[in-house]
Amino acid sequence: MKQAVITGVAGFLPDYVLTNQELETMVDTNDQWIRERTGIVERRLLKEKGKGTSDLAVPAVLELLKKTGTAPEDVDLVVCCTVTADFRFPDTGTLICHKAGLTNAYGYDLSAACSGFVYGLHAAAQYIKAGTHKKVIVVGADKMSSIMDYTNRNTCILFGDGAGVVMLEPSDDETLGLRETVLYGDGSGGAELYQLGGGSVHGTTQETLDKNMHVIEQNGRVVFKRAVKGMSSAIKKVLEKSNLAGEDIKWVVPHQANIRIIESVAGQLDFPMEKVMVTIEKYGNTTAATIPLCLRDYESQLKKGDQLILTAFGGGYTWGAIRLVWGYNS
Ligand SMILES: CC(C)(COP(=O)(O)OP(=O)(O)OC[C@H]1O[C@@H](n2cnc3c(N)ncnc32)[C@H](O)[C@@H]1OP(=O)(O)O)[C@@H](O)C(=O)NCCC(=O)NCCS
Repeated sequence: MKQAVITGVAGFLPDYVLTNQELETMVDTNDQWIRERTGIVERRLLKEKGKGTSDLAVPAVLELLKKTGTAPEDVDLVVCCTVTADFRFPDTGTLICHKAGLTNAYGYDLSAACSGFVYGLHAAAQYIKAGTHKKVIVVGADKMSSIMDYTNRNTCILFGDGAGVVMLEPSDDETLGLRETVLYGDGSGGAELYQLGGGSVHGTTQETLDKNMHVIEQNGRVVFKRAVKGMSSAIKKVLEKSNLAGEDIKWVVPHQANIRIIESVAGQLDFPMEKVMVTIEKYGNTTAATIPLCLRDYESQLKKGDQLILTAFGGGYTWGAIRLVWGYNS
């Protein structure tokens, strides 16, 4: 059977830098608290009017095509992982295909919040392994600023906008590519992390606007604990299934929500932080984009054959982990 291997990564971040100092002028917070409690120093925002998540994803996709030497017409599918689609419909995956000139591809959106990219990567790998698709782009992109309440210090300090993308292709090399995957969901977590307005239950009305229902809300402390537990247990399960020990893993690529969550997960599994990819200080939590942006930022340090574990936890709840073997030297 063919293996599904990542053959390239790329990303895009908008220019505007929202610093902790600027947040101090917006809500009752301070730089020291944000750094100590979250690890975040700054995040990027897409400020231009009329621009959405596809406008974050398209430059990343174009860069990916260039880096991998792929002709736009050769791409088969775009799986767009996001909770901030441009519109309710048309879907953002289809818009990305159109805007990036992927004339023979189709696309669709996958909504699993901060776990979107691991869900999407697993889904995309099945098309490659089945032999029905040869080039699949997995996009993790979110314009979190579009669902943020910049008067709520519980949320607005955490999130940023960005996009990360990977190319998945088939390989005959049995040693490379995606390996064991565990994915989980628990809908009872919907009560702790959500955006209620604008869906089919609470379609947009004056009342939903007055009640400020179109922004993200969360019970931060509860989510924190569940995130540590979810990602740690998912990594353990993947190690168990793969018959590997922590020391066999070269890199852990965790979702970037809070540096203390990342450190707790690493601590529970005895992973030294030098093995853990961290970008949170620069970008904050970009939801579906955090993991592919980590891969992009650490790409030059990755070697063919490196063992990686990707792990995420997010709204839903959704969570999981994937072991993969890196496929190329850059
Ligand atoms: C949101 C989060 C950063 C809050 O950190 P925390 O350490 O749990 O902080 P707490 O909510 O316990 O608040 C501690 C104190 O800081 C205050 N505080 C909360 N937010 C603050 C802010 N932005 N600036 C300054 N003070 C703040 C609280 O009011 C509280 O004060 P008190 O002790 O006087 O009551 C943290 O819980 C978190 O990251 N949770 C996970 C969220 C997440 O990842 N969501 C995305 C899904 S993956």
